[in-house]
Amino acid sequence: MRKLKLVIALIIIGFSGLQYTFIVQAQETLKDIIKPNQTSTQSNNEVTMKPTNKFEFKPLPYSYDALEPYIDKLTVEIHYSKHHKAYYDNFINAIKGTEMESMDIKDIFRKISKYPMAVRNNSGGYFNHTFYWESMKAHGGILPTGKLSEAIAKSFSSFDEFKKQFSEAGKTRFGSGWAWLCLDDKGNLFICSTPNQDNPLMDIAEKKGIPLLTIDVWEHAYYLKYQNKRPDYIDAFWNVVNWEEVARRYENAVNAMGVK
Ligand SMILES: [Fe+2]
Repeated sequence: MRKLKLVIALIIIGFSGLQYTFIVQAQETLKDIIKPNQTSTQSNNEVTMKPTNKFEFKPLPYSYDALEPYIDKLTVEIHYSKHHKAYYDNFINAIKGTEMESMDIKDIFRKISKYPMAVRNNSGGYFNHTFYWESMKAHGGILPTGKLSEAIAKSFSSFDEFKKQFSEAGKTRFGSGWAWLCLDDKGNLFICSTPNQDNPLMDIAEKKGIPLLTIDVWEHAYYLKYQNKRPDYIDAFWNVVNWEEVARRYENAVNAMGVK
């Protein structure tokens, strides 16, 4: 009733030709009247309305410009807030009302060949990008140390050889995709690349393993700054690798597999 009276008052005011600013003030008053009800509704449903979605769109672990000058601010902003976000939204839509809503993403990957292509593309796009962002940091690029360093030397003979092979995997991936450093089920490191949004955790992967490091070689990851020069982007990537995070992933993977 109170709301109705106010609407009538607004109409009268409008017809009376009073100034526009006065109408705006009245509209703001109307908003204030409605607001308590909305808040109350939200408050009443706070417990039951909590999102049941277990898949989080994680915040970028650094500012958009943190990887400058190697990866530029605008690229990171568009890549994260548009591309990555779209994969996340499409993934959530693709699994709505299915068993996948309550599954761990790695279990979805293990059975990915059984699910629609929209799930394969968007679950990969969602996971791979989070993994990529966390593979980098500002002022990264210090050489790996400790057990990871030893494992790289053992599997590739030297860090330089590893770097060369990983870079090559990214440079030669035809079209769009990813290059990966992974741990296999025997505890050995290997390098591979996957097309589109596939990853080595998926049952359709040519070579399966636990991912430790990745680089996105889709054009959207580098085109604004590097245009067609993908190799330059890959060379720059080594300056922002978060080796502490890669070492942490390696230790976790080794412990999970019980490899000595
Ligand atoms: Fe991407």
